Amino acid sequence: MSSGKPKPGTDPGGESLTLDLGRFEHTQLKIDRFQFKTPSLRNVALTPPYMHDGSIPTLKEVVQFYNRAEGNSELLPLHLDEGEVDALVAFLHSLTGDQITE
Ligand code: HEM
Repeated sequence: MSSGKPKPGTDPGGESLTLDLGRFEHTQLKIDRFQFKTPSLRNVALTPPYMHDGSIPTLKEVVQFYNRAEGNSELLPLHLDEGEVDALVAFLHSLTGDQITE
C-alpha cells in the first residue's frame, strides 16, 4: 500500500503484520504512527518469533521480508540472491553467544 490508511490486518511493515499503530498508541502524535523500537540483535537467534507482533517466525523469513520489501513504502528491495540471504542469516546467527546465562 503506498499511501492512506492501511487496511485492517496490514501496515507499512508488511501484509502479515497486524494493525498496530506503534508509538502513536502511547503518544497520540501523528508523527509516531507506525513507529516501532529498533530492537537489539544481540542473541537474536534465541528470540523467535520476530518483529513487534511476532509475525515472522524465522530469521530467514525476516531477511526475505527485507529482501522483498513488498508493500512497504519505507524500504527498498535488497536484491540479494539466495546465497547472500543465507550469508546474512549466518551473520545474524553469529550475533548469538554460546555462554548465555539463564
Ligand atoms: C538487511 C538489513 C537488516 C537486517 C538483517 C535486519 C534484521 C532485523 C531483525 C532480525 C529484526 C527482528 C528483531 C526482533 O524481532 O527481535 C528486525 C527488526 C527491526 N528492524 Fe531491522 N534489519 C535490517 C535493516 C533495518 C533498517 C535499515 C532499519 C531502520 C531504518 C531497521 C529497523 C528495524 C525495526 C524498527 C525493527 C522492529 C520492527 C517491529 O517491531 O515490527 N532494520 N530487523
